[in-house]
This record gives sequence, structure tokens and C-alpha cells, in this order.
Amino acid sequence: MHEVSSREIINSFLDFFTKNGHLKIDNSSIIPKNDPTLLFINSGMAAIKNYFTGKEKPVNPEICNVQTCIRTIDIDEVGDRHHLTSFHMLGNWSINGRYFKNGAIGLAFEFITKNLGIPIEKLYVSVFAGNKELGLEFDDESKKTWIELGINKNRVLSFGMDDNFWGPTGETGPCGPCTEVFYDTGVGADYQGSGDFDTKRYIEIWNAGVFMMLNKTENLDFVSLPFKSVDAGAGLERFAMVIGGHDSVYETDLLSPIKFQIEALFNVRNLPQNMEEVFEKNMRILTDHLRTTVLILASKIRPANESRGYIPRKLIRKCIAISQKTSNFCGMTYSPNLLPVVEFILDNFNDIYPDFITNKKFVLDQFNLEVTKFESVVQDGLEKLLEHKNKLNLEISGDFAFDLVTTFGLPFEIIRDFALENNLKLDGEKYNKNLENHRNISKFVDKSERSIDEVLEKIYSKIPPDNETNFVGYDNEVVTAKIYKIFSDTGEEICNISNQKKVFLIFNNTTLYAKAGGQDYDKGIIFSYDYITLADITGCFKKNGVYVHCCEMRCGNLSVGDSITIGLDFSRRKKLSRAHSATHLLHSVLRKMFGNELEQHGSKVDENKLRFDFNYDGNISRENILGIEKEVNKYILKNLKCEIKIMQLSQAINYGATAIFTGKYDDIVRVVVFKNDEFVDCADIVSKELCGGTHVEFSSQIGFFVIESVENIGKGIRRITAFVGEKAVEFYQNKISILYDSTKILGSSYDDFVQKLSKKVAVPDVRVKKYTKNLENSDLVYADCDIPLAYKKINERPSVQALTKLAEQIKGVIAVITDDGSVETKSYVSLAVASHLNLNAGKILKQVLSGFDQKGGGNSVNAYGNFGKINVAEFIGKIVELIQKKI
Ligand code: SER
Repeated sequence: MHEVSSREIINSFLDFFTKNGHLKIDNSSIIPKNDPTLLFINSGMAAIKNYFTGKEKPVNPEICNVQTCIRTIDIDEVGDRHHLTSFHMLGNWSINGRYFKNGAIGLAFEFITKNLGIPIEKLYVSVFAGNKELGLEFDDESKKTWIELGINKNRVLSFGMDDNFWGPTGETGPCGPCTEVFYDTGVGADYQGSGDFDTKRYIEIWNAGVFMMLNKTENLDFVSLPFKSVDAGAGLERFAMVIGGHDSVYETDLLSPIKFQIEALFNVRNLPQNMEEVFEKNMRILTDHLRTTVLILASKIRPANESRGYIPRKLIRKCIAISQKTSNFCGMTYSPNLLPVVEFILDNFNDIYPDFITNKKFVLDQFNLEVTKFESVVQDGLEKLLEHKNKLNLEISGDFAFDLVTTFGLPFEIIRDFALENNLKLDGEKYNKNLENHRNISKFVDKSERSIDEVLEKIYSKIPPDNETNFVGYDNEVVTAKIYKIFSDTGEEICNISNQKKVFLIFNNTTLYAKAGGQDYDKGIIFSYDYITLADITGCFKKNGVYVHCCEMRCGNLSVGDSITIGLDFSRRKKLSRAHSATHLLHSVLRKMFGNELEQHGSKVDENKLRFDFNYDGNISRENILGIEKEVNKYILKNLKCEIKIMQLSQAINYGATAIFTGKYDDIVRVVVFKNDEFVDCADIVSKELCGGTHVEFSSQIGFFVIESVENIGKGIRRITAFVGEKAVEFYQNKISILYDSTKILGSSYDDFVQKLSKKVAVPDVRVKKYTKNLENSDLVYADCDIPLAYKKINERPSVQALTKLAEQIKGVIAVITDDGSVETKSYVSLAVASHLNLNAGKILKQVLSGFDQKGGGNSVNAYGNFGKINVAEFIGKIVELIQKKI
């Protein structure tokens, strides 16, 4: 065998299979389409899952391609010879086509031995040993085929479900028994067929055929597929490794250039001998994780705390930790900047991935932002863990781990890795318990809500199963109902109401929407047959389909079994519906504006007021806010029709309805659609969301939409608060009145108000004391204390590395304040000091910010934090004071 490039292997593979009647199909995006059960495309077949069930039909039954895959399930194995979190799968398929078992095996054998020139003595294969429960026999046909082709029968192994049954990809879908090919990288005696089959020596290079016969359904049953197919896939990196005779995939042309760049960042001359193995493993992990991070970010996924975005966040944090640990044992005083490696990957592999060109800026920005956010957190956390270990502790308690995660923001995986590397016990169980309690406690917003929740829990626990309330409130305002149960205000069950003022009632029917999915509850009244109001319903809650109504009695006595009428407060319902519908339109506008990876992270719908949380790391400028308002109001004016569709969950997903990724849904779901109904023939769908809430019939009923504020609520999550209907008008009128009064005071018109005001208001002198000179090429200024201090106001968060470099250059201190012109009330401040000054940036910033009641911190050379309404002069003045005190 001779070394061939990976690109040559790809060409040879595609050439071989197209010559054998396969049609080459494109590489799909790593983001699955309409498959909420799967985070990323993790094999070639995942992108074409529907072909195997017959839901979609390929143009040709035999197809092939090269597919980029992300398989994070192997993350903890990375660092060994051949496991990766991203790889390229060479795939060939016969979808109800010309070949099945022996055809697939014949093609794989021919390609491996003839085209790649791998000697037969190097090969082992495995076949499926059978499974009674699934009615699957031992795969004799595959075994015979391999032997006929020349594989020694002792090298045809058989394994069970864990090793030789593949799929489904995600939770549901096609799956089946498979046959795999292994390459022997070792020397010495052959495997004797019993004992451990060492998969580090015998590297799996090809899943030469998954014989797709079964479909795993949502109920977790296996049913037969309507026809049989073959799904075969080989890892390009592993092919390149064995053909090139390399010890690991990291020596192939796909990964070695990246690893080389990374190694150059560390001071290997200082590497202690006993750390060589750890160093090699760390370099491999960084190589793999940085490449996968780039692939994910280049698909326009932003790092986030949940769902897809959590993977790059986890990988980047791990890279930061590994890089810091490696720098420590290489005797370096700083941890290197990994951004140039990211740029290298983008520039050197863009012939394979066009996204690396189009989304280069996005990838670099997101990576930088994420490193800036987590670098000092990880560093401080690792220091705390080290301190803990140095105190000769043998265990990391659940409480300590919980404290590090919640108070210091250290990711749990880093604690877990630290425990593993240092042989410390980690009480994960107690940690999870603490986390669970914490989540429950955070659910209680305030004390009153907490006490009502406690009473409700008590009530729910007393309702026997299968007593769901019949909710008829989507189409009715009034309904007659029977009282099923009565509870006192402390949650005790009673049979009748005599002199109680507050009670909780459960009926057989109701028209009131209970608080759910972010929407607040309906209110209403209970009245008798002669229209006398008996009670006000002040709240409505539900659990497992049982609706509990909080009632304040006005008059009369009520007993279990009595018939009453429930009337809905329709005016409140209308206001809630307006706000809820506006939330859907806002969601759709935000995705149109900032990309489809934007996801809802929570919402709150009150009377004419709404709150919508979503993942977005970029800056939301004043122009953006005006743009969002304009677009939502355009939809309102279009008088979009709201249509409710009831369908199966899978149908809804195919229909493209937006769902909360982590949400749990029933099999039958409700999809709320807003569409342009003006032209029946070309109905234009604006929004389709899985939702149980109440909505307007036409968007014009929302009236008017205006944003009150945009906040950054942390960890890349933004919150928009907005008004609709009368509240929106009220909000605008208030603002206009303020402007009107101001023009009167200033003696100006609306049009020249800003001009006149700016002349009047002196621009505060933000500079500190005297400045002796300006720095070249920037608006940095030089403070007159014995250490040079420069400050700058900029629009975007700066890179910590860049600032640190700048501080070294001016041999002084740099302070940076963001002022992006958005309506956010918080500014971001960052401080970097040159290392020779022996100052402590973290301490300085912490002290300065605590004086303003804000938090921040960092390490000795750089630090950052958030700032409320900033008075730059005061802020810089405090820094000067502390520098002079040599803190
Ligand atoms: N889907 C199978 C695998 O991933 C064959 O490609 O192994």
C-alpha cells in the first residue's frame, strides 16, 4: 500500500460506486431537516432516512456520497487512535434496489482489496449473531459470502445486538443487522475467536452493510419495513489512517496539519518527560474538538446552553480547559490563543466546505466571543479545583461541584474530567440532587406564588387518575358545569362552602384556559341559573388535565355535585390572545432577521404584554429594534388569518411547524398557523408553531405592537418585552407626552429637538485628569499617572487576547467599555494589564465594579464584567486610584 491523499480516496470511492451503477448525491448539511430526534447528522443514512421507509423515493435506487458527520456520543473516547467527534462517511446504498447482502459485501471487498490495495491478511469481519426477540436469525448468508470471497473462516466473527445491529439514527427510524470490516494494525498472534476482540488493534474501517429490515416506532416497537435496503458506510479518516500505515487518524492529511498548528502554540521544549503521553492526547483532543467546533459554527449554529448550540459550547470549554492545563505543565505563564487555529481550519479546508468561506466571519466572531466569556471562568474554576486537591481531598463533594457550577459558572464536564484525571471521587448523585432542588426552587417566583403552588400540589395529589376536566374554552365563553371537588384555601378537601371566602373548585367542564406554555390564566365568574354571580374566578391552573379554579365567593353556598354556569372574562381573554399571537409573529420576524437557528427559550404572555426569550449573541441595535417593530406591524396590517390545525406530531414536524426543541409533546398536537388569506391561490404562511394557547382570529385584532425593552439575560439569551393593543398605544402616548413636554421646556419643535438639546447639554469630559499624548493610530489616550493607562469606547466586545497583547505593547493598562448604542442598560467592561507591571487586573476590576455594585473579575492580566449605567470618568478615576496603589 502507498500513501494516498484523502481527496484521492474520496475520488476513487465515488468513481468505483458510480461505475457500479450508483448515482452520486450531495453532501447534506450537518443540521437534520425535520428530525427533532437527532441533534446532528451522524451518518450518511441519517440525511436520507425517509428513503428507507418509502416516505420519499431516490431518483436511482443505488446511490453514494461523502457525508460530513458529527457523532458526539464518542466524545469521551477522543484522544485514542481513531475516535472522532466529526468525520467523513463514504456511503453507498441500495434502496429496495439491485443488491442486498452478498452484493453489498462483494462491492466492499472489491473496493478494499483491489482499489485500495489492502491485503486480505489484514482483514477480519463480523456478522450478526441473531436475536430471538426481534425474530432475526444468525446471518449465515453474510458469513458464507465473506468465506467465498477468501476471508479465512476463523476471521469471520459473530456478535450480538450491541456490535452488529445498527440504528436507528436518532430515537426512531430504520435499523437492522450489519456486517463490519476490521483492519489489523497489530503484529503477533491472530485473534482466536474468544476473549476480548481488541478494537484498538483491530480498527473498524467499514460498516459494509446495514441490512435495513426494521423500523423502530415512536412507541419503541420494531415493525417490518415495507422493503429491504442496504446502508453501508466507511470512515474516510480511518481508511486514510490504515492505508497510510499511520498510528492514528491524527497523522492523516485531514488532521495532521491542524494538529501541527496546535502543537506550535505550546512550549514543547519545557515538556516534562512523564507528560509526553498526556501532551499527545491533549493535542489530539484539541485537533478533533476545534475541527468539529468549526464545522458546527460554520453551519450557523451559535454556542448556547441547550440543544444543538450546547455541543460547540461544550467543545470550546473543553478546549479552553485542556489548553490551560497543557500550558501549565509546559511551564507557560499564559494559555495560547486558539483563534489562529480556527482561522487555519477555515482557510485550509474551504475546498471541501463552501460554508468555511461564506460563514468565516461568523465562525471567528462566535469562537472569540465564547472564549472571551469562558476563559477566565474556566481558569478560576481549575484553580479552585487544584486548591481543593492540594488540600489532600480525595473526593469532590456534590455540594462543592454544585457551588462551582452555580456560583462560579464552571461547566460540570470540566469538574468531571478533573476528577477522572486526578483520581478523585466525584459525588455526581448529590450534585444532580442539588441541581434538581435548585431548579424547583427557581420555579417559585415569589412567596405568594410559592404558597399557591404548594396548595395546588396538595390538591393535585388528592385527585384520582383519569378525572381530566373537559376544556371547551377554545370555542365557548360560557358552559354549564358540575362541581366535582371543593378545597379550602389551605388545600383541605371539603364538601360544601359555608362561610369560606377563598376556595379552589374543580368542575367537569370549563371554558377557562389554565396557565400554560407561558400564557397566563383566564379569569371568569360562576353564576347561578337566575344570573346571580356567586363567585369570581381569579386564577386557573392545571396538571395532568385537571383544571383547578381559584375562586373568591361573593354570595351563596355551593356543594359538591351542584350545577352552575361558568362565564369567561372575554375581555381579558382577548388581551391575552393578542399578546400570544404577537409572540408568534415576533418569533417569525426574529428568525427571518437573525436566522433559523434562533430558538425560543421561554415566553410569558400577560394582558396586552409579552416577553419573549431567545438565543442570539449578536448586538441588537436601535435599527434592529425599529425593524422588528415594523415587520411585526406589517403582519398585523396584513390581517393574516389564524388557522388551527390538529395533527400527528410527526405530520406537524414534516409540515415544518416550529417546536421548542426540548419540549415534550403529545402524539396529537395543535398547530397555530398565521397565513396571508387575501389571495387564496397563493396563501403565504408567515408562522406555524406547535401551541396550545389562545389566539386572535385575524392578526389585525392585535392592533399595534411596540417593543418596550431588549435585555441580555445572560448566557447568550436575549429578552424582548413588548406591548400590544391598548397598552401599546398607551406606551407610545406616554413617550410622546414626554417628548412634547421636553420640546416646550426647550422651546423647540419636534424636528429640531435633538439638535437643540445636544447643543445645550455639555458632553461630559470622560478623560481622566491630564493626558500627555495620544497613542498612535487610535483614539486611545494616555493617562498621566506613572503607569500608562489607555481607555477606549467601542461597539463590540473585544477579544481578551487582543487586549492583552495591546496592554503588553503599550506596557501599561487598557480599559475598554462597550457602548453599542442599543437600548440595553448594561455595558461591558474589560481590563488588560501588561504582565511586567505585577498588577492584578482581576482584583482591580472586581474592586472597581463592587464600588458600583456590579460584578466582574478575571485573572492577573485580564478581567471583565458588566456595568450598569456607566459614568466613564468616575470609572477610569477609580482604576487610576487602584493602579497608583499598585493593587
Ligand atoms: N449507518 C451505518 C453506520 O453509521 C452505515 O453507514 O455505521
